[in-house]
This record gives sequence, C-alpha cells and structure tokens, in this order.
Amino acid sequence: MEKIKMLTPLVEMDGDEMTRILWKWIKEILIEPYVDLKTEYYDLGLENRDKTNDKVTVDSANATLKYGVAVKCATITPNNQRMTEYNLKEMWKSPNGTIRAILDGTVFRAPILVNGITPYIPTWKNPIVIARHAYGDVYKAVDGFTKGGKAELVFTDENGQEVRKIVHDFNGEGVVMAMHNTDKSIASFARSCFNYALSVNLPLWFSTKDTISKIYDGRFKKIFADIYENEYKEKFEKAGIEYMYTLIDDVVARIIRSNGGIVWACKNYDGDVMSDMLATAYGSLAMMTSVLVSPTGVYEYEAAHGTVTRHYYKYLKGEPTSTNSVATIFAWTGALKKRGELDNLPDLIAFAERLEKATLSTIENGYMTGDLAAIFKKDGITPVKLGSKEFLQKIAENL
Ligand SMILES: NC(=O)c1ccc[n+]([C@@H]2O[C@H](COP(=O)([O-])OP(=O)(O)OC[C@H]3O[C@@H](n4cnc5c(N)ncnc54)[C@H](O)[C@@H]3O)[C@@H](O)[C@H]2O)c1
Repeated sequence: MEKIKMLTPLVEMDGDEMTRILWKWIKEILIEPYVDLKTEYYDLGLENRDKTNDKVTVDSANATLKYGVAVKCATITPNNQRMTEYNLKEMWKSPNGTIRAILDGTVFRAPILVNGITPYIPTWKNPIVIARHAYGDVYKAVDGFTKGGKAELVFTDENGQEVRKIVHDFNGEGVVMAMHNTDKSIASFARSCFNYALSVNLPLWFSTKDTISKIYDGRFKKIFADIYENEYKEKFEKAGIEYMYTLIDDVVARIIRSNGGIVWACKNYDGDVMSDMLATAYGSLAMMTSVLVSPTGVYEYEAAHGTVTRHYYKYLKGEPTSTNSVATIFAWTGALKKRGELDNLPDLIAFAERLEKATLSTIENGYMTGDLAAIFKKDGITPVKLGSKEFLQKIAENL
C-alpha cells in the first residue's frame, strides 16, 4: 500500500517518562505504517532541555509559529525532587508555560466521548470544551495581610497624576488584594476563542460576573462584543453557530441542563476550576485532549494529562503497565487533521478520522486499558484489560 503523503512538516515535541514510551509506539504501530510522516523533531525530554539550557523549548515554539501546527508529548515540569533525580543545572520553567507565552495562546480542553463510559451528567452526550484565559487576574495578583489600617488603591498615570480609591478601612485583621489584566491579552483570548469555535463548528458561550465586577469583568465583556461584531459576526452567521455572553452562574445552570456541544470561554480562575470539574464529570483525565490556539490561528495539540510517572517506574522495572494512550493518539490525529486541512490533503484527514474511529471502537468492543476497564459499563460486554502496547496493537488490528 502506498503511504499517505504530507506536504508541510508537523512540529513534533517529544517528552518524558511513560508518555515518551507511548509516543514512540503510537508512531511505530499506528502512524508510520500508513503515513509518510514528515515532522520537524524537537526533543523536549527533560534531559535535552537541561542540555540545551531550555533553548529547545523556545525553538520548538518558534517552529510552531513558522509551520502552524505542532503535536506535543507530556513533559515534566521540574520541582526540587526532579532537580536531584535528573541532576539539573536549573529548575527549568514549565515547557507549556514557555510555549503558551510565545504563541500568546489559549488552551482548549475537550473530552473524548466513548460509548460505555457514561459521564456523571448522563445528558452530556456531546463534548463541552473549556477555553481558559491563561493570563492575569488572581494568578498575577498582589496581596497582603493587615492587622488594621486603611487599604488604598493608588493609580499613577503616565503624567504622574495619582488617583486614590479606598479599598477598605480595616478595624482589625484582614486581607487585601489587587489584580490586573490587559486589553491586549483579553483581545488575544477572544480571537483564539472565536477562531476555535469556528474551526470545530460549535457555539461559543462566554461568561463573567459583570453585574458585580462592573468595570473589570465589564471590560472583558466589551472587548469580546466589539471583536465579535467587527471581525467574526458574519463568519459565525455563515457557519450557523451563535456567540452568547451571559453571567457565569447562568452558564453553570445552562451547562448542567445541556447535551454538551458547546465551547465555554472562561476567565482564568473560572477556567482552572471548571476544567477540572468537567474532566472528572466526563470520567477520566486520560480521555481529555488539549489544544493551544494562538490568536493568529496556530495550533499545538497534546493530551491534558501528565507523564504518568508511576507507570514509568513500573515500566523501568520490567513490570507490565496498562497506560491509556487515547488522549495522546487524539493529539496526533488532531494535528494530522489540521495539517491536512491547511495543506488540502483529504487522504490525511480521512486517515486521522479512521484512526480516531478505530481507537473508540476498540474500547466500545471491550478492549481497553486498566483505568477505563474499571469504569466501563455496556450490556453484554465484559471489558478486557490490555497492556500499554497490546492496546495499541489491538487498535492497529481494527484500523
Ligand atoms: N501537559 C503536560 O505536559 C503535563 C501536565 C500535567 C503534569 N505534567 C507532569 O507530569 C508528571 C506527573 O504528574 P502527575 O502525576 O501530577 O499527573 P499525571 O497526569 O501524569 O497523573 C495523574 C494521575 O492520573 C493517572 N493518569 C494520568 N494519565 C493517565 C493515563 N494516560 N493512563 C492511565 N492513568 C493516567 C495517573 O496514574 C495518576 O494517578 C509531573 O512531572 C508533571 O510535571 C505534565
């Protein structure tokens, strides 16, 4: 059989631990036999990040800006324990943070739904995608504790003119906080959300609490509304999808009652909390994909989970593992599909869709990894737990 040809390389970002092992097997067993795979390879494994003083991460992000589509394996974010384990020169920053800053992107997290694994909210038949604004608010706040006294917000404009506002006159102990965001970052967030909703053809809901936070959240609401009106309204109408702004409490009520099939744009803190709630409600962290989308339409695909350290240590000891590779497979298929769309390669798109279908039908027919076997329920099927590599081989059979 002739292999499917590619035109532009994918930016391939390799990673760490168990997911690095899965990465190699996914390519060997599921992709390379069928696709003449073209990638520009960057090794983001912790050892190579240390060796290159983390230059490799920056290079891979710049390559993503150049080519437009990347696929990333999970990577270790170093902490004190990793400093010793890998004998690191420095506690390198999270690669995801570095890449996100260079791409100025927004992270969209979407669950992979499969028949036999029922969400805790059974009406959620379709995915709910969370878009989290990844800059500012409480994550870049200044806060403090006081034993008493007057807290004031002092703003000095470009001409040195001061404006003071009393936050609170404390009569005893208390806490105080100041936070910020920028129009530039909010506008990038808005454009990423509008682009993503169009690319998956799903309605976009955006929520804040502007009834209480009139100026701060009101600014988010206004920037989204202006950009929608001026740049995206026609495209949304043509695609037959809606953009809706409403209060976060209203969205929470609507989401719970919905059948899914929505992109939900959240401010930083809301997105942090709500994305974990959704991942849990859909059944498994290992069934969540994540894509970073820049406001200019550059895409980086990955699994939402980490490097599955516990399984890796078992693997190193030669013990059997049953690590779920579904989200990593879907990172690859997402990237191949996007490359296919951009380069007009219908065969590549069709291949990626078949691989997704083969993966889901393998599970629906009862063959899966241990994490899913524990929660799988379908009449007439007793789930069979497969090893990490065996699961990929079973998918290849179906493919
Ligand atoms: N995007 C990323 O690159 C990313 C995200 C999170 C964590 N990490 C890194 O991953 C390492 C491990 O972190 P962690 O343990 O907090 O997160 P993790 O996602 O690797 O594991 C969390 C829990 O979920 C289970 N799990 C996750 N994915 C699974 C899968 N595919 N199959 C079966 N079970 C799965 C694990 O067994 C574990 O109990 C850390 O070094 C961290 O820095 C990377």
